[in-house]
Amino acid sequence: MKKVLLGLALAVALPLAAQQKSVYLDTTKPIEQRVEDALGRLTLKEKVAMVHAQSKFSSPGVPRLGIPEFWMTDGPHGIRPEVLWDEWDQAGWTNDSCVAYPALTCLAATWNPEMSMLYGKSIGEEARYRHKTVLLGPGVNIYRTPLNGRNFEYMGEDPYLAGRMVVPYVQGVQQNGVAACVKHFALNNHEVNRHTTNVVVDDRALYEIYLPAFKAAVQEGQAWSIMGAYNLYKGQYACHNQYLLNDILKGEWEFDGVVVSDWGGVHDTDQAITNGTDMEFGSWTNGLSQGTSNAYDSYYLATPYLQRIQEGKVGTQELDDKVRRILRLAFRTTMDLNRPFGLLNSPAHYEAARRIGEEGIVLLQNKNRVLPIDLNKAKKIAVVGENAIKMMTVGGGSSSLKVQRELSPFDGIKQRVGDQAEVVYARGYVGDASGEYNGVVTGQNLKDNRTPEELIAEAVKVAQDADYVIFIGGLNKSNGQDCEDSDREGLGLSYGQDAVISALAKANKNLIVVNISGNAIAMPWVNEVPAIIQDWYLGSEAGHSLAAILMGDVNPSGKLPFTFPVKLEDCPAHSLGEYTGKRSNDVIDIKYNEGIFVGYRWTDKQKKVKPLFPFGHGLSYTSFEYGKPTATSKTMSADGNLTIKISVKNTGNREGQEVVQLYISDIKSSLPRPIKELKGFQKIKLAPGEEKTVTFTIDKEALSFFDDTQHAWIAEPGKFEAIIAASAADIKGVVPFDLK
Ligand code: BGC
Repeated sequence: MKKVLLGLALAVALPLAAQQKSVYLDTTKPIEQRVEDALGRLTLKEKVAMVHAQSKFSSPGVPRLGIPEFWMTDGPHGIRPEVLWDEWDQAGWTNDSCVAYPALTCLAATWNPEMSMLYGKSIGEEARYRHKTVLLGPGVNIYRTPLNGRNFEYMGEDPYLAGRMVVPYVQGVQQNGVAACVKHFALNNHEVNRHTTNVVVDDRALYEIYLPAFKAAVQEGQAWSIMGAYNLYKGQYACHNQYLLNDILKGEWEFDGVVVSDWGGVHDTDQAITNGTDMEFGSWTNGLSQGTSNAYDSYYLATPYLQRIQEGKVGTQELDDKVRRILRLAFRTTMDLNRPFGLLNSPAHYEAARRIGEEGIVLLQNKNRVLPIDLNKAKKIAVVGENAIKMMTVGGGSSSLKVQRELSPFDGIKQRVGDQAEVVYARGYVGDASGEYNGVVTGQNLKDNRTPEELIAEAVKVAQDADYVIFIGGLNKSNGQDCEDSDREGLGLSYGQDAVISALAKANKNLIVVNISGNAIAMPWVNEVPAIIQDWYLGSEAGHSLAAILMGDVNPSGKLPFTFPVKLEDCPAHSLGEYTGKRSNDVIDIKYNEGIFVGYRWTDKQKKVKPLFPFGHGLSYTSFEYGKPTATSKTMSADGNLTIKISVKNTGNREGQEVVQLYISDIKSSLPRPIKELKGFQKIKLAPGEEKTVTFTIDKEALSFFDDTQHAWIAEPGKFEAIIAASAADIKGVVPFDLK
């Protein structure tokens, strides 16, 4: 009796929450129950604290309740070194070196979702080991112009390809109890004026081109967070945008995760409250002019938000929604007891980086079968060019890394050749000799004061009596090249590289040009050079991956994830667009006049404009023969599907992989449509002489377009074609069918 009375007395004395079992800590309970339980225990101030940063890369948890802090990290190619609490500069830790994986353009060029899963899993393990809650990546902004300084961080020009590749990446990362944060939502398609560009785009292009990869990441990948973009859309900043965040992401797509602002992407308290921002990062503390002593309290979603609630100007409904999402994130990540422990710098991670690199390298041209290099015949190999020796993991903006090790292309070639041949080097040109980003230094001294004439003369001299010449150049991670917050000024290569290449082509007929970039470049020398390789920023294993392709240990199987135009005017963002490249402090409208006709969709439409290298292009050291495609039926019903089959045979004498591509063409439609659109692809491996049948099954989704008048995806009955191709310009067979 006494006990009962005591119990009753306690129940009256203690607040409700403390009497209850801590459901939020009980990992056997459904997440939504834990969320509600935790939410009920939070004070107003604790809730407001959770919706904005407490340092450059973290936001507070709730120490009183044991809810951990949230730690963010870039992304997307490796785990960024630790920075100071309040600065961008590195903290000087000695245990934060990572494996650098190939840039996402390379991943997209593998056209292999298994590589995406491997990538996501591996980088997720590193993030987990480094105690991160959220990995700030991957990026899936569409490749609209080859000048965009951040294209290397994205997955190319096609929404279907980017969609298929982003899903496994997200899943792989999140298996580790680390959230992927898909960025930058949305319409961040160039860097100059990224904070002042108001994108004007029609709904069809928005839904058909710019959103599908995000949608796939959210709905199929189940991404736990998404990052708002810097730019504006319909006059509102994307980080607090009614249309993008509330209507589309959280409304139409039912996203239940967290919207993280880009760093400094929030500009207004009221809009951030109502227009979908869940976590504010990077305002006021750029470490320069905007730093204030109580910076984090001054965030738009800090004291100004609290005051508005305390003064009764806004309610707590939006706040509770934001906090629910953040709690959900905690239970999915740091408060998931089944979360694995992660790994850092493991041999498996290096192997993953190497394999993804090997599968992503694209053989663009191989006249006279110059490649692969025959080491039985070669006595001397000349390597020319700055990118053969330059460390590429430092620089480029927020994706910059501090790596445990990085093997340069030149060292990779030397290692592979061993004493089978002499490998000599000449600089050829001087690009950017610097190598520092936020305090991480490459330690390389690339200064060279010789004139271009002297450098070319030296290169030609070493090239003349070599059996093979490998020129390794392209872009780099410096401003105005492939680098965040800057765009390129033109399609051409800088630093006089074209002249070096032409001089080498005259000096030696076995010239191989390796272009390292995340972007298309102009190639005025394309007809002078027998072999051209599109290499990417390949990270730690750059040298091994490239050497394996050059020597033929690995048969190239990458395909371009974007079109290489001959000249900039062949790209509609420039021929029709208003992109100026001039910095503006005022908000300016940038109209996407080409609408849905981005990349090969534009090239196809132009008919007379031939690309330098088309989307989906990539050669192999073997050859493939395609059979005649067939369909299971001549008609497809609106609720049914259609299966298309094609046989592919390896007709060469070495094993190889081919990416078989399926495009759909709508012959007649009420709204303009692209000539064809990618709707399927499969990468298959074939031994010499082997033949396989590739099967694609499509449903009406593959036939649909976004009708902006109805705000709905529509598949119009009528005639269609299923096109089997080896690239957007290499059609192997066509099967007509009708949609009933
Ligand atoms: C970039 C983001 C990045 C963030 C944090 C921003 O400037 O746009 O992609 O994740 O900084 O470094």
